[in-house]
Amino acid sequence: MVAAKKIISVVGARPHFIKAAPLIAELNKAGKEVLTIHTGQHYDVNMSDIFFRQLKMERADINLGVGSGSHAEQTASVLNSIEPILRAEDPEAVIVYGDTNSTLAAALAAAKLYIPLVHIEAGVRCGNRRMPEEINRKAIDHMSDYLVCPSELAVSHLEREGIVDGVLNLGDFMYDTYAVASELVESESIMPASFSVAPGQKFALCTLHREATTSDPQKLNELLNYLGNQSVHVVLPMHPRTSAVLSAANFSCGSRGSLSVLEPLGYLEMMFLLSKASLVLTDSGGLQKEAYWAGVPCITLMDETTWTETIDAGWNVLTGLDQDRISAAIASFEDGSLGGGRKRPDVYGKPGSAARLCSLMGWV
Ligand code: UD1
Repeated sequence: MVAAKKIISVVGARPHFIKAAPLIAELNKAGKEVLTIHTGQHYDVNMSDIFFRQLKMERADINLGVGSGSHAEQTASVLNSIEPILRAEDPEAVIVYGDTNSTLAAALAAAKLYIPLVHIEAGVRCGNRRMPEEINRKAIDHMSDYLVCPSELAVSHLEREGIVDGVLNLGDFMYDTYAVASELVESESIMPASFSVAPGQKFALCTLHREATTSDPQKLNELLNYLGNQSVHVVLPMHPRTSAVLSAANFSCGSRGSLSVLEPLGYLEMMFLLSKASLVLTDSGGLQKEAYWAGVPCITLMDETTWTETIDAGWNVLTGLDQDRISAAIASFEDGSLGGGRKRPDVYGKPGSAARLCSLMGWV
């Protein structure tokens, strides 16, 4: 009897772990053999191991250990290391997630070996070609065989680029993970050791890590000074990229004024803080959606977003890094014109995306 082929799931960065977790759980349940390859793009315990533990995923079978580097170095390194593995394993399919350099490299390697390629979070666009992730998204979608979209809008982006075959709108995979976590975090035991929340305490949860936010250390430092001068207490678990940029320019990575800086947090601690936060300030894509699901108004510190549905619903606003625009957005949060208990339609579907994919692919 010929052995059934494996499915290969390629992860490497924080957002991948969150998207992969529900799918790996479904595949395990169905008894499908999965080989997990971790590219090693994220390697600190708080950026990687903690997510595997909290999301109840087994350690990756293979870690490519590519680490940090320029876009070219990171992409080339994953491409070089993963190709022989894909060739040797000859899997039934390769699954990739999101828009990082790891995703692009794994997709390219699989596509060139004619291995069926499944892209989770396909069709997502922000329209800014100067963002590395936007370049990655476009390239990955044009190579993929199965384009698993989180929303109708994502399907329409693909249609506009002439991609209609293999397109599936199954809802957002992060919603599956969020739905499980939002119940778990009701327990105070998930409170991060570095920041305790007193009953009724109001604070804004902030994240900053994008290349556009961190490339100029002077501007980044000014932004932190601004955040430390707000009437609302701002809590910032700091991404290592952000602290590396500040330290290299001899700026402080510590708390200042009303800004509390924490170490990067695990997924559950992050969702715990989100559940207690009054407001989110972020340049992360995933946190904009998580804020929407949690019913927390969001100020997005970018000039564009991939998650425009949250803006249309009145729960998110774009400010870029302009302090006047951020202040105006904080005022709109305070007067209830941002968020303010509006309806939150199910623009990203309902939890259950991973089960829907497994059933459509015949993996159950
Ligand atoms: C990457 C993704 C981004 C995603 C983000 C999630 C690309 C182009 N970008 O950005 O889309 O939103 O992951 O976090 O792939 N570092 C550490 N320890 C780690 C990981 C990173 O110290 O475990 C530091 C290093 O200084 C590194 C820097 O962070 O140079 C940037 O890391 P990198 O993986 O290149 O990009 P991210 O900013 O994490």
